[in-house]
Amino acid sequence: MNYKITVLPGDGIGPDIIRESLEVLKAIGNKYGHSFELTEADLGGIAIDKHGEPLPQSTIDACKSSDAVLLGAVGGPKWDTVPGNLRPEAGLLGIRAALGLYANLRPAIIYSALMDASPLKSEIISNGIDIMVIRELTGGIYFGKRGRLETDGGEAAFDTEMYNRTEVERIAKVGFETAMRRGKKLMSVDKANVLESSRFWRQVVEEVAKDYPEVALSHMYVDNAAMQLVRNPAQFDVVLTSNIFGDILSDEASMITGSIGMLPSASLGAARLGLYEPIHGSAPDIAGQDKANPIATILSVAMMLRYSLDLPEEAAAIEKAVVNILDKGCRTGDIASAGTTAVGTREMGRLIREELLK
Ligand code: NAD
Ligand code: IPM
Ligand code: MN
Repeated sequence: MNYKITVLPGDGIGPDIIRESLEVLKAIGNKYGHSFELTEADLGGIAIDKHGEPLPQSTIDACKSSDAVLLGAVGGPKWDTVPGNLRPEAGLLGIRAALGLYANLRPAIIYSALMDASPLKSEIISNGIDIMVIRELTGGIYFGKRGRLETDGGEAAFDTEMYNRTEVERIAKVGFETAMRRGKKLMSVDKANVLESSRFWRQVVEEVAKDYPEVALSHMYVDNAAMQLVRNPAQFDVVLTSNIFGDILSDEASMITGSIGMLPSASLGAARLGLYEPIHGSAPDIAGQDKANPIATILSVAMMLRYSLDLPEEAAAIEKAVVNILDKGCRTGDIASAGTTAVGTREMGRLIREELLK
Protein backbone atom coordinates (compact mmCIF):
# COMPACT_ATOMS: atom_id res chain seq x y z
CA MET A 1 0.00 0.00 0.00
CA ASN A 2 0.98 3.60 -0.54
CA TYR A 3 0.37 6.06 2.27
CA LYS A 4 0.58 9.84 2.10
CA ILE A 5 2.23 11.40 5.13
CA THR A 6 2.71 15.11 5.70
CA VAL A 7 5.79 15.79 7.78
CA LEU A 8 6.14 18.96 9.88
CA PRO A 9 9.65 18.97 11.40
CA GLY A 10 9.19 22.37 13.05
CA ASP A 11 11.87 23.98 15.20
CA GLY A 12 14.68 23.23 17.66
CA ILE A 13 15.17 19.48 18.06
CA GLY A 14 12.16 18.91 15.75
CA PRO A 15 14.20 18.25 12.59
CA ASP A 16 16.60 15.91 14.49
CA ILE A 17 13.95 13.67 16.00
CA ILE A 18 11.89 13.69 12.79
CA ARG A 19 14.92 12.61 10.74
CA GLU A 20 15.40 9.53 12.92
CA SER A 21 11.68 8.77 12.94
CA LEU A 22 11.45 8.93 9.14
CA GLU A 23 14.35 6.50 8.90
CA VAL A 24 12.36 4.14 11.13
CA LEU A 25 9.32 4.61 8.90
CA LYS A 26 11.46 3.83 5.85
CA ALA A 27 12.72 0.68 7.55
CA ILE A 28 9.11 -0.38 8.21
CA GLY A 29 8.29 0.28 4.56
CA ASN A 30 11.15 -1.93 3.40
CA LYS A 31 10.39 -4.70 5.85
CA TYR A 32 6.64 -4.89 5.22
CA GLY A 33 6.44 -3.71 1.62
CA HIS A 34 4.67 -0.38 2.11
CA SER A 35 5.54 2.89 0.49
CA PHE A 36 5.22 6.15 2.35
CA GLU A 37 4.91 9.24 0.21
CA LEU A 38 6.32 12.03 2.35
CA THR A 39 5.52 15.71 1.88
CA GLU A 40 7.38 18.16 4.06
CA ALA A 41 5.61 21.36 5.11
CA ASP A 42 6.40 24.30 7.40
CA LEU A 43 4.83 24.88 10.79
CA GLY A 44 5.91 27.09 13.69
CA GLY A 45 8.98 29.29 13.79
CA ILE A 46 10.36 28.04 10.50
CA ALA A 47 7.06 28.97 8.83
CA ILE A 48 7.23 32.45 10.38
CA ASP A 49 10.73 32.88 8.96
CA LYS A 50 9.84 31.55 5.50
CA HIS A 51 6.23 32.66 5.02
CA GLY A 52 5.61 35.35 7.65
CA GLU A 53 3.03 33.22 9.50
CA PRO A 54 3.21 30.12 11.72
CA LEU A 55 0.58 28.13 9.81
CA PRO A 56 0.51 28.83 6.07
CA GLN A 57 -2.56 27.70 4.11
CA SER A 58 -0.29 25.46 2.03
CA THR A 59 0.55 23.50 5.23
CA ILE A 60 -3.13 23.04 6.08
CA ASP A 61 -3.83 21.89 2.52
CA ALA A 62 -0.93 19.41 2.58
CA CYS A 63 -2.14 17.96 5.91
CA LYS A 64 -5.73 17.67 4.71
CA SER A 65 -4.73 15.74 1.61
CA SER A 66 -2.72 13.14 3.52
CA ASP A 67 -3.47 9.97 5.49
CA ALA A 68 -1.57 11.18 8.55
CA VAL A 69 0.62 14.01 9.82
CA LEU A 70 3.87 13.58 11.72
CA LEU A 71 5.10 16.58 13.70
CA GLY A 72 8.36 17.30 15.53
CA ALA A 73 7.96 20.35 17.78
CA VAL A 74 7.58 24.09 17.40
CA GLY A 75 8.77 27.19 19.19
CA GLY A 76 11.94 28.73 20.51
CA PRO A 77 13.42 31.89 22.02
CA LYS A 78 13.76 33.49 18.58
CA TRP A 79 9.98 33.83 18.34
CA ASP A 80 9.11 34.44 21.99
CA THR A 81 8.54 38.14 21.43
CA VAL A 82 6.22 37.98 18.41
CA PRO A 83 2.53 38.76 19.10
CA GLY A 84 0.66 35.83 20.69
CA ASN A 85 -1.55 35.06 17.72
CA LEU A 86 1.50 34.85 15.42
CA ARG A 87 3.72 32.72 17.65
CA PRO A 88 4.87 29.25 16.56
CA GLU A 89 2.60 27.74 19.24
CA ALA A 90 -0.41 29.48 17.66
CA GLY A 91 0.41 27.56 14.49
CA LEU A 92 0.27 24.29 16.42
CA LEU A 93 -3.11 25.16 17.94
CA GLY A 94 -4.24 26.23 14.47
CA ILE A 95 -3.40 22.94 12.78
CA ARG A 96 -5.05 20.93 15.59
CA ALA A 97 -8.22 23.01 15.14
CA ALA A 98 -8.11 23.04 11.33
CA LEU A 99 -7.98 19.24 11.27
CA GLY A 100 -10.64 18.88 13.97
CA LEU A 101 -8.33 16.89 16.25
CA TYR A 102 -10.20 17.14 19.52
CA ALA A 103 -8.85 14.02 21.22
CA ASN A 104 -5.22 13.81 22.28
CA LEU A 105 -4.04 10.41 23.49
CA ARG A 106 -0.87 10.49 25.60
CA PRO A 107 0.19 7.06 26.86
CA ALA A 108 2.59 7.04 29.81
CA ILE A 109 4.17 3.62 30.15
CA ILE A 110 7.13 2.80 32.33
CA TYR A 111 9.38 0.27 30.64
CA SER A 112 10.94 -2.18 33.04
CA ALA A 113 14.43 -1.30 31.81
CA LEU A 114 13.81 2.34 32.75
CA MET A 115 12.75 1.87 36.39
CA ASP A 116 16.06 3.45 37.40
CA ALA A 117 15.42 6.51 35.24
CA SER A 118 12.20 7.35 37.07
CA PRO A 119 12.62 9.86 39.90
CA LEU A 120 10.07 7.87 41.93
CA LYS A 121 11.16 5.27 44.48
CA SER A 122 11.22 1.73 43.15
CA GLU A 123 8.47 0.53 45.52
CA ILE A 124 6.07 3.10 44.05
CA ILE A 125 6.57 1.96 40.45
CA SER A 126 7.46 -1.70 40.94
CA ASN A 127 4.12 -2.94 39.57
CA GLY A 128 4.52 -0.87 36.42
CA ILE A 129 2.74 2.22 35.17
CA ASP A 130 0.44 2.24 32.16
CA ILE A 131 -1.66 5.39 32.05
CA MET A 132 -3.55 6.74 29.06
CA VAL A 133 -4.09 10.47 29.41
CA ILE A 134 -6.92 11.63 27.18
CA ARG A 135 -6.64 15.35 26.77
CA GLU A 136 -9.33 17.48 25.16
CA LEU A 137 -7.42 19.36 22.45
CA THR A 138 -9.49 21.92 20.59
CA GLY A 139 -11.43 23.68 23.34
CA GLY A 140 -11.13 25.19 26.78
CA ILE A 141 -8.87 28.05 27.77
CA TYR A 142 -6.56 27.42 24.80
CA PHE A 143 -9.31 28.52 22.44
CA GLY A 144 -11.45 30.82 24.61
CA LYS A 145 -11.65 34.57 24.29
CA ARG A 146 -8.50 36.30 25.52
CA GLY A 147 -7.22 39.80 25.55
CA ARG A 148 -5.87 42.84 27.31
CA LEU A 149 -7.88 45.68 28.74
CA GLU A 150 -7.74 48.74 30.93
CA THR A 151 -9.58 48.40 34.22
CA ASP A 152 -10.04 50.63 37.25
CA GLY A 153 -7.06 48.84 38.71
CA GLY A 154 -4.97 49.56 35.63
CA GLU A 155 -3.74 47.19 32.90
CA ALA A 156 -5.19 43.66 32.88
CA ALA A 157 -5.30 40.52 30.76
CA PHE A 158 -7.70 37.58 30.55
CA ASP A 159 -8.20 34.12 29.07
CA THR A 160 -11.49 32.26 29.13
CA GLU A 161 -12.15 28.63 29.94
CA MET A 162 -15.33 27.46 28.20
CA TYR A 163 -16.67 24.08 27.13
CA ASN A 164 -19.92 23.38 25.32
CA ARG A 165 -21.91 20.14 25.56
CA THR A 166 -20.76 18.75 22.22
CA GLU A 167 -17.11 19.25 23.12
CA VAL A 168 -17.42 17.46 26.45
CA GLU A 169 -19.64 14.68 25.12
CA ARG A 170 -17.33 13.72 22.28
CA ILE A 171 -14.16 13.66 24.40
CA ALA A 172 -15.99 11.79 27.17
CA LYS A 173 -17.00 9.16 24.60
CA VAL A 174 -13.35 8.75 23.61
CA GLY A 175 -12.56 8.31 27.31
CA PHE A 176 -15.21 5.64 27.86
CA GLU A 177 -14.43 3.81 24.61
CA THR A 178 -10.76 3.75 25.57
CA ALA A 179 -11.63 2.51 29.06
CA MET A 180 -13.74 -0.29 27.54
CA ARG A 181 -10.68 -1.48 25.56
CA ARG A 182 -8.48 -1.29 28.67
CA GLY A 183 -9.22 -1.81 32.37
CA LYS A 184 -12.79 -0.38 32.32
CA LYS A 185 -11.70 2.34 34.74
CA LEU A 186 -12.00 6.03 33.94
CA MET A 187 -10.79 8.93 36.06
CA SER A 188 -12.13 12.32 35.01
CA VAL A 189 -9.96 15.15 36.31
CA ASP A 190 -11.36 18.64 36.82
CA LYS A 191 -11.58 21.57 39.23
CA ALA A 192 -15.31 21.30 39.92
CA ASN A 193 -14.93 22.67 43.43
CA VAL A 194 -14.15 26.08 41.89
CA LEU A 195 -14.83 26.29 38.16
CA GLU A 196 -18.31 26.33 36.62
CA SER A 197 -16.85 24.92 33.39
CA SER A 198 -15.58 21.96 35.45
CA ARG A 199 -18.97 21.44 37.11
CA PHE A 200 -20.50 21.33 33.63
CA TRP A 201 -17.73 18.95 32.47
CA ARG A 202 -18.46 16.61 35.38
CA GLN A 203 -22.23 16.72 34.73
CA VAL A 204 -21.85 15.85 31.04
CA VAL A 205 -19.30 13.10 31.77
CA GLU A 206 -21.83 11.60 34.24
CA GLU A 207 -24.50 11.68 31.54
CA VAL A 208 -22.28 9.97 28.97
CA ALA A 209 -21.39 7.36 31.63
CA LYS A 210 -24.96 6.03 31.44
CA ASP A 211 -24.09 4.52 28.04
CA TYR A 212 -21.11 2.71 29.56
CA PRO A 213 -22.39 0.88 32.66
CA GLU A 214 -19.38 -1.44 32.68
CA VAL A 215 -16.91 1.40 33.16
CA ALA A 216 -16.11 2.45 36.75
CA LEU A 217 -16.08 6.24 36.54
CA SER A 218 -14.54 8.40 39.24
CA HIS A 219 -13.69 12.07 39.52
CA MET A 220 -10.69 13.81 41.01
CA TYR A 221 -9.71 17.42 41.45
CA VAL A 222 -6.68 18.37 39.39
CA ASP A 223 -4.55 19.46 42.34
CA ASN A 224 -5.11 16.11 44.04
CA ALA A 225 -4.45 14.31 40.73
CA ALA A 226 -1.09 16.06 40.42
CA MET A 227 -0.22 14.81 43.90
CA GLN A 228 -1.63 11.29 43.44
CA LEU A 229 0.39 10.87 40.22
CA VAL A 230 3.60 10.88 42.23
CA ARG A 231 2.16 9.27 45.38
CA ASN A 232 0.62 6.25 43.67
CA PRO A 233 0.58 6.47 39.85
CA ALA A 234 -0.51 2.83 39.51
CA GLN A 235 -4.04 3.79 40.64
CA PHE A 236 -4.60 5.48 37.25
CA ASP A 237 -5.62 3.73 34.05
CA VAL A 238 -7.48 6.09 31.71
CA VAL A 239 -7.42 9.76 32.70
CA LEU A 240 -9.87 12.08 30.97
CA THR A 241 -9.28 15.79 31.26
CA SER A 242 -9.42 19.24 29.73
CA ASN A 243 -6.96 20.85 27.39
CA ILE A 244 -4.87 22.72 29.96
CA PHE A 245 -5.03 20.13 32.76
CA GLY A 246 -4.06 17.43 30.24
CA ASP A 247 -1.11 19.49 29.06
CA ILE A 248 0.24 19.80 32.58
CA LEU A 249 -0.56 16.32 33.90
CA SER A 250 0.92 14.60 30.84
CA ASP A 251 4.28 16.32 31.35
CA GLU A 252 4.18 15.13 34.95
CA ALA A 253 3.20 11.60 33.93
CA SER A 254 6.02 11.53 31.38
CA MET A 255 8.66 12.16 34.01
CA ILE A 256 7.38 9.23 36.06
CA THR A 257 8.32 7.03 33.09
CA GLY A 258 11.86 8.41 33.09
CA SER A 259 11.79 11.36 30.73
CA ILE A 260 9.58 13.62 28.70
CA GLY A 261 11.60 12.32 25.76
CA MET A 262 9.70 9.02 26.02
CA LEU A 263 6.08 10.08 25.53
CA PRO A 264 4.36 9.95 22.13
CA SER A 265 0.91 11.24 21.31
CA ALA A 266 -1.91 10.84 18.83
CA SER A 267 -4.32 13.67 18.07
CA LEU A 268 -7.53 12.33 16.60
CA GLY A 269 -10.87 13.62 15.41
CA ALA A 270 -13.94 12.33 13.65
CA ALA A 271 -12.02 11.46 10.47
CA ARG A 272 -9.24 8.92 10.06
CA LEU A 273 -6.60 11.60 9.57
CA GLY A 274 -4.57 12.05 12.73
CA LEU A 275 -1.57 14.09 13.84
CA TYR A 276 1.25 12.39 15.70
CA GLU A 277 3.85 14.15 17.80
CA PRO A 278 5.96 13.73 20.91
CA ILE A 279 4.48 15.53 23.92
CA HIS A 280 7.68 17.48 24.52
CA GLY A 281 8.68 20.74 22.95
CA SER A 282 11.52 21.96 20.75
CA ALA A 283 14.05 21.78 23.63
CA PRO A 284 16.11 24.82 22.54
CA ASP A 285 18.67 24.03 25.26
CA ILE A 286 19.80 20.88 23.42
CA ALA A 287 18.84 21.70 19.82
CA GLY A 288 21.44 20.80 17.21
CA GLN A 289 23.62 18.94 19.73
CA ASP A 290 22.66 15.36 18.87
CA LYS A 291 21.37 14.93 22.42
CA ALA A 292 17.59 14.71 22.01
CA ASN A 293 15.87 11.43 22.74
CA PRO A 294 14.08 10.44 19.51
CA ILE A 295 12.01 7.67 21.17
CA ALA A 296 8.89 9.80 21.82
CA THR A 297 8.71 10.64 18.12
CA ILE A 298 9.55 7.10 17.00
CA LEU A 299 6.74 5.83 19.25
CA SER A 300 4.50 8.50 17.70
CA VAL A 301 5.22 6.87 14.33
CA ALA A 302 4.01 3.60 15.88
CA MET A 303 0.80 5.33 17.02
CA MET A 304 0.38 6.72 13.50
CA LEU A 305 0.68 3.25 11.99
CA ARG A 306 -1.87 1.91 14.47
CA TYR A 307 -4.49 4.68 14.52
CA SER A 308 -4.42 6.27 11.07
CA LEU A 309 -2.95 3.61 8.78
CA ASP A 310 -4.42 0.50 10.39
CA LEU A 311 -1.05 -1.27 10.51
CA PRO A 312 -1.03 -2.73 14.06
CA GLU A 313 1.63 -5.35 13.34
CA GLU A 314 4.03 -2.73 12.04
CA ALA A 315 3.26 -0.49 15.04
CA ALA A 316 3.96 -3.34 17.45
CA ALA A 317 7.25 -4.06 15.67
CA ILE A 318 8.46 -0.51 16.37
CA GLU A 319 7.36 -0.70 20.00
CA LYS A 320 9.12 -4.03 20.43
CA ALA A 321 12.33 -2.68 18.87
CA VAL A 322 12.25 0.21 21.37
CA VAL A 323 11.73 -2.15 24.32
CA ASN A 324 14.54 -4.44 23.13
CA ILE A 325 16.96 -1.56 22.70
CA LEU A 326 16.17 -0.28 26.19
CA ASP A 327 16.59 -3.80 27.57
CA LYS A 328 20.06 -3.87 26.01
CA GLY A 329 20.98 -0.76 28.02
CA CYS A 330 20.96 1.72 25.14
CA ARG A 331 20.16 5.20 26.46
CA THR A 332 20.14 8.82 25.45
CA GLY A 333 21.35 11.28 28.10
CA ASP A 334 17.89 12.03 29.52
CA ILE A 335 17.26 8.37 30.47
CA ALA A 336 20.83 7.34 31.25
CA SER A 337 21.53 6.05 34.75
CA ALA A 338 24.42 4.41 36.56
CA GLY A 339 25.89 1.60 34.50
CA THR A 340 24.63 2.83 31.14
CA THR A 341 26.39 4.96 28.55
CA ALA A 342 24.48 7.65 26.75
CA VAL A 343 24.40 7.73 22.95
CA GLY A 344 23.28 10.57 20.71
CA THR A 345 20.05 11.08 18.76
CA ARG A 346 21.46 9.57 15.55
CA GLU A 347 22.93 6.53 17.23
CA MET A 348 19.71 5.81 19.15
CA GLY A 349 17.78 6.03 15.87
CA ARG A 350 20.25 3.71 14.14
CA LEU A 351 20.12 1.16 16.97
CA ILE A 352 16.31 1.05 16.89
CA ARG A 353 16.34 0.59 13.10
CA GLU A 354 18.91 -2.15 13.33
CA GLU A 355 16.79 -3.90 15.97
CA LEU A 356 13.69 -3.50 13.82
CA LEU A 357 15.32 -5.12 10.81
CA LYS A 358 16.54 -8.16 12.73
P1 NAD B 1 10.53 21.31 26.22
O1 NAD B 1 9.68 20.09 26.26
O2 NAD B 1 10.98 21.74 24.87
O3 NAD B 1 11.82 21.09 27.14
C1 NAD B 1 11.74 20.89 28.54
C2 NAD B 1 13.01 20.17 29.00
O4 NAD B 1 12.96 18.81 28.57
C3 NAD B 1 14.29 20.76 28.44
O5 NAD B 1 15.30 20.69 29.38
C4 NAD B 1 14.61 19.84 27.26
O6 NAD B 1 15.98 19.76 26.95
C5 NAD B 1 14.06 18.50 27.75
N1 NAD B 1 13.61 17.68 26.63
C6 NAD B 1 12.50 17.88 25.89
N2 NAD B 1 12.42 16.95 24.92
C7 NAD B 1 13.50 16.17 25.05
C8 NAD B 1 13.97 15.03 24.33
N3 NAD B 1 13.34 14.53 23.28
N4 NAD B 1 15.13 14.47 24.75
C9 NAD B 1 15.78 14.95 25.80
N5 NAD B 1 15.40 16.01 26.52
C10 NAD B 1 14.25 16.62 26.14
O7 NAD B 1 9.72 22.45 26.95
P2 NAD B 1 10.06 24.02 27.14
O8 NAD B 1 11.52 24.19 27.35
O9 NAD B 1 9.09 24.51 28.11
O10 NAD B 1 9.66 24.68 25.73
C11 NAD B 1 10.59 24.96 24.70
C12 NAD B 1 9.82 25.41 23.47
O11 NAD B 1 9.03 24.33 22.95
C13 NAD B 1 8.83 26.55 23.74
O12 NAD B 1 8.86 27.42 22.65
C14 NAD B 1 7.50 25.85 23.85
O13 NAD B 1 6.42 26.66 23.55
C15 NAD B 1 7.67 24.75 22.83
N6 NAD B 1 6.83 23.57 23.03
C16 NAD B 1 6.35 22.99 21.90
C17 NAD B 1 5.63 21.83 21.98
C18 NAD B 1 5.14 21.19 20.73
O14 NAD B 1 5.56 21.55 19.65
N7 NAD B 1 4.24 20.23 20.80
C19 NAD B 1 5.42 21.23 23.23
C20 NAD B 1 5.93 21.85 24.38
C21 NAD B 1 6.65 23.03 24.26
C1 IPM C 1 2.02 20.40 23.97
C2 IPM C 1 2.55 21.81 24.03
C3 IPM C 1 1.57 22.75 23.36
C4 IPM C 1 0.29 22.71 24.17
C5 IPM C 1 2.03 24.20 23.19
C6 IPM C 1 3.36 24.31 22.56
C7 IPM C 1 1.02 24.98 22.41
O1 IPM C 1 2.86 22.18 25.32
O2 IPM C 1 1.76 19.89 22.86
O3 IPM C 1 1.90 19.77 25.02
O4 IPM C 1 0.20 23.35 25.22
O5 IPM C 1 -0.62 22.00 23.73
MN1 MN D 1 2.75 20.53 26.74
